[in-house]
Order: sequence, then structure tokens, then C-alpha cells
Amino acid sequence: MDSGMDWYYAKAVLEWQVELGATEAILDAPIDRFELPKSQARPAPGAAAAPAPVPRAPEIDAVEVARAAAQGAGNLTELEAAMAAYDHCELKRGARNLVFSDGHASARVMIIGEAPGRDEDRIGKPFVGRAGQLLDRMLAAIGLDRTAEAREQAVYITNVLPWRPPQNRDPEATEIAMMLPFVQRHVDLVNPDFVVLMGNISCQAGLGQRGILKLRGTWAEAYGRPALPMTHPAYLLRQPQAKREAWADLLSLKARLS
Ligand code: URA
Repeated sequence: MDSGMDWYYAKAVLEWQVELGATEAILDAPIDRFELPKSQARPAPGAAAAPAPVPRAPEIDAVEVARAAAQGAGNLTELEAAMAAYDHCELKRGARNLVFSDGHASARVMIIGEAPGRDEDRIGKPFVGRAGQLLDRMLAAIGLDRTAEAREQAVYITNVLPWRPPQNRDPEATEIAMMLPFVQRHVDLVNPDFVVLMGNISCQAGLGQRGILKLRGTWAEAYGRPALPMTHPAYLLRQPQAKREAWADLLSLKARLS
């Protein structure tokens, strides 16, 4: 033996390796198994075999799931539960509360805002922050009140998105698309005579268009009913000079109601 080992010494070394758990004879030249194509690579002695590839789950159509869930809701309580159970919108994970609605479902007017802000997320009701307080004053000016139960004074308020987007960012088109079946069902269940689309996101959802400063004040159709695009009260807080046009839009709504 050119290694200088005699037969007894080599046997002792081999036995010692077997004792340590070696199960394979070592070749003269080392094999770099990482260099081998995957199909030929074998796990190192004692190592676990690579797991078999997991078959991919079929892609989920989040809009279709929303449509089925919304259609299955026979009343507002069931709709809220269906939305709470809906798990395909990432916004849900960052939100504290599902913001479903406020006001009375007997209302002739349904206001659809954009998405909850910080106050709404905390309290679980739409339009309760500064913009909401301005909205209440605007509605009061034409005899509407979200706390009223009587059909003539009542107003029902919801949003396109029931969960607050992080840092109040604009919702993505996919997020709007997946919540749209719920909004449509919401409108069908409340069955108002008129819908107010409050702000750009609401127009994007209901009319497929943005550009509220052009759209506002012109009656259109959304969710199968007459719809009035209006500037958002948060915009009016920043741009008080736009209140004059908002007042004209409120009067247009009042005229339709009477
Ligand atoms: N803005 C909205 O559009 N909705 C709310 O609920 C609050 C602020």
C-alpha cells in the first residue's frame, strides 16, 4: 500500500468510518454533487431526499369569489358577514375594522364614498372624521340626516372599500374590482332611488371614469340607478372655494327628491 497503511490499519479505519455512519464507499476522485444535473444528483449520505414538487394550487379568481359571496347575501346582515369572511383583499390585513355602513336602509339616497380613513377604521363607521362632519352639515342643508329613520329624511352611507388602505393611499384597480360585486349587491339590497358618488374613487368604481371636477354635477347611471358625482368633502375642506359648486349639486339632488 503506497499510503503506508497496512491491511490491519486500513480495516480499522474503515470500521471506524462505518461506526461514524458512513454508508458509501469513497471513490478515488471526489464528486461535486452540486455540479450534477438535478436529475442525477443524489442526496449526500444521511441527508434527507429533496421533497417531491408540490402541485400548484389552481389560480383563484378573486372577483368571481366576491361575486358568488355577494350574490349569496340575502340581506344587509348577510352581506356584511360575507364581506367580513372575504379573504382575497390585502387591505383587510392592515385594517382594524370592517367599515360597512351608517344611516338607515329605508333611505332614498345612498352615498358611496371612497374608503375609510383613520377615524373610520378606528370606529368602524363611514365618514366620522372631519370630512364626515362636513358631509353631515351638507346633508342637513337639504334636509337629510343619517340618524333619521323616516324615508324622506334618511340617508344611507357606505364606501367602495370597507377597509382602510395603508397611509390612506389610493386603492389599486384590482382592489376596487374585487370589492365591486359587494358594492353592487349593497346598492341592490338598500334599493335607493338615487346614488351619490362621492369623489374620484367612487366615480372610478361606479362609472369607470375619474376626473371628478369634470364629472361632478352631471347625473349619470351607476349600479342601475340615477347617480350624481360630487366632489368629496375632504376636497372641500382643502379647497373651500369649491363649496359653491357642491352646493349646486346638493340642490340638484334635492330637486330630484322632491
Ligand atoms: N372618506 C371616505 O371616502 N369615506 C370615509 O368613510 C371617510 C373618508
